[in-house]
Amino acid sequence: MRPALPLLAATLGGCAWDGPMSTVVARSDFARDILEVYGIVTWATVVIALVVFVALGWILLRFREKPGAPLPAQTHGHTLLEIAWTVAPALALLVIAIPTIQVIFRTQAAPAAQALDVTVRGRQWWWEFRYPSLGVVTANELHLPAGRPVALSLEGPDVIHSFWVPQLGGKRDVIPGRVNRLTLVPERPGEYWGQCAEFCGASHANMGLRVFVDTPEEFARWLAAQRATPAEPTGLAAEGKAIYARSACVGCHTVRGVSAGVLGPDLTTFGSRTTLGAGLRPNTLDNLTAWIRDPAAIKPGVKMPALGLGEAEARAVAAYLAGLK
Ligand code: CUA
Repeated sequence: MRPALPLLAATLGGCAWDGPMSTVVARSDFARDILEVYGIVTWATVVIALVVFVALGWILLRFREKPGAPLPAQTHGHTLLEIAWTVAPALALLVIAIPTIQVIFRTQAAPAAQALDVTVRGRQWWWEFRYPSLGVVTANELHLPAGRPVALSLEGPDVIHSFWVPQLGGKRDVIPGRVNRLTLVPERPGEYWGQCAEFCGASHANMGLRVFVDTPEEFARWLAAQRATPAEPTGLAAEGKAIYARSACVGCHTVRGVSAGVLGPDLTTFGSRTTLGAGLRPNTLDNLTAWIRDPAAIKPGVKMPALGLGEAEARAVAAYLAGLK
């Protein structure tokens, strides 16, 4: 018993009711629907467990072996009992199935006409977000206006991923060659954490994302900044731009007006993101410099190679990217 206690403490130590990845804090209509089904299933299970354990305890006490006691009455082929233990589980399943099926259909309904369309592409190991109606492309940090329905189209060019932002809703797979949909209304402004939830290779665990639910005014400001042409860099950042433009960076990344690569994240407004490497590190000059020098040291398996830039060159490129906002 005693060795079990530290193990229990270590396991439960990872639990938090309102942690950033909590599944019991619902901040969208979709998440609330799922939480409701979760509640029904949990209470149904609790009632069944109580009935089973109370009955088991009573039977163990009532029929325990006593010295000299005769064998209790033996039951065989009791029709009423057999009907009862067939009907009772069927009823329990019915109680769980009806609300579950209702929620499945509700969450698969056609999106509202005024819904904001976003294409989510899961890639090894980052997320691309395209807003086809707004002409904006970004990565790893999704901005959504609070109160407006959003219709996500999930697709991917490589392997199966799963888009999961617990407080905004359940997991939905991102499958190459088909489009899955997810419709929800984010209700409250805030920062929500997400994570790829389907094993997709070496850095599956490092495939995080952030969703920023903005007030409509904040979203309009963010959108204007995404569409604007970043100011021409000066000083160290200007050096960085020149290095960026003559290095292999341009083969994979887009910076609108500078390069048009499509293999890696669009960096047009990279400086406006709070994290780098798909939610892996805070987006600071030091972290960015280290990333540019040796991405694989931070993210195992990453497709971006080390470009052989020295510390000073990497820092100049970092200064350039940090200024793109
Ligand atoms: Cu992508 Cu796991």
